[in-house]
Amino acid sequence: MASIRISEARQHLGDVATLRGWLYNKRSSGKILFLQLRDGTGILQGVVAEPENPQLFALAARLPRETSVIASGTLREDPRAPSGCEMQLSTLEVIQEPTGDFPIELKEQTPGFLLDHRHLWIRTGRQVPILRVRDAAFRAFRSFFCERGFVATEAPILTGASVEGTTTLFELDYFGDKAYLSQSGQLYLEATAMALGRVYWIGPAFRAEKSKTRKHVTEFWIAEAEMAFYDHAANLALQEDLVRYLVEAVVAERKEDLVTLERDTDLLLREVRQPFARIDYGDAVRLLQEKGHEVTFGDDFGAPEEEALGAHFGRPVFIERFPVTMKPFYMKRDPADPTRALAADLIAPEGYGEIIGGSQRVDTVEELLAQLEENKLPTAPYEWYIDLRRYGSVPHSGFGMGLERVITWICGASHIREVIPFPRQIHRLYP
Ligand code: 4AD
Ligand code: MG
Repeated sequence: MASIRISEARQHLGDVATLRGWLYNKRSSGKILFLQLRDGTGILQGVVAEPENPQLFALAARLPRETSVIASGTLREDPRAPSGCEMQLSTLEVIQEPTGDFPIELKEQTPGFLLDHRHLWIRTGRQVPILRVRDAAFRAFRSFFCERGFVATEAPILTGASVEGTTTLFELDYFGDKAYLSQSGQLYLEATAMALGRVYWIGPAFRAEKSKTRKHVTEFWIAEAEMAFYDHAANLALQEDLVRYLVEAVVAERKEDLVTLERDTDLLLREVRQPFARIDYGDAVRLLQEKGHEVTFGDDFGAPEEEALGAHFGRPVFIERFPVTMKPFYMKRDPADPTRALAADLIAPEGYGEIIGGSQRVDTVEELLAQLEENKLPTAPYEWYIDLRRYGSVPHSGFGMGLERVITWICGASHIREVIPFPRQIHRLYP
């Protein structure tokens, strides 16, 4: 007897097969029971008719949702079933029968209740396809860079200084000294890029942000790349290629899941297949003012502004050349206008907001020292970073993508907390 996973069921039509999983849900129609069986790869309908197998029928009728089981039976084509087939059950071996009703109902429950039961919630509804899309997005990011000859590298999580400003740092005691949870691996990737040329990684990033929005978590996964000899223009071209590749790869691989999530994948592909829009920060401020937004030059854009820009262009848009006062110390200034940084944020359409932040990096000791001072940062913790400008400095650029932001957009999810297995938010550290 073939032991199969549900994703392979269609290749075994006519066979007697066994699968191991959980009883997701069931319904009855007179003397027939329909069991929704799940195993992480999909959902398969198991059918048992009382007249044919009264004992099995009685057992199946009694078992509660989420009973873990080994099910055997014949696989038959069924065009009405989402998987295209069903299993005529002959045996059902119970591994463990739940001691009570499964807390997650397959109807609306409050977000607070669902988040308190996140460890169980992830088994149900949209959560399973979302987590499979997440897997595909991580993999696509890595294969993009692997195919282009980048070297995967790692950055530390425990750090002695800030990368993205001091207001969002998680501080901890490190044997009597202060240490911080990393906000980004960027500074360390700049060092490995000087060793390896072009590098990338995916790692956790921590932001002690007090923002309670549908786009912020305090722990997220940042996907970053750093390239020696790349200028600002080359940096943006690479980001555009990456986002297009990533969306296309995920849609191709997880089409069925995105259909389950009711995501309009044609829209998504149309958005990324056009050349991305680009707008100077100053022009973006003017455009927003014309649309009635109360922004002035030097302001950070909030969710309504990002949404308006996304809607205006209907495709990803780079906002370029921010005033240096808005951005961190490490960004190179535009030689044509030193009040502006050679930086860009990439804004996703449909209101999903900023998905990438990046820039060309400062590459001389003089500029770096001046910019540290302007940002009132001490030089001692950054000596190693200054060294990179002392020994064979080259023009270089990089960027960081918030994977949860991208996955939220690809899935069409309404909140970032749905696309990470265990979201961390201001008032949420459980489970
Ligand atoms: O724009 P950020 O702060 O840029 C950096 O950290 C740079 N050091 C990256 C680099 O150049 N290597 O963060 C990068 C991205 C943002 O564009 C956003 O997508 C995501 O990380 N992000 C968050 N995602 C979820 N929750 C939060 N609190 C986030 N903060 C930033
Ligand atoms: Mg940013």
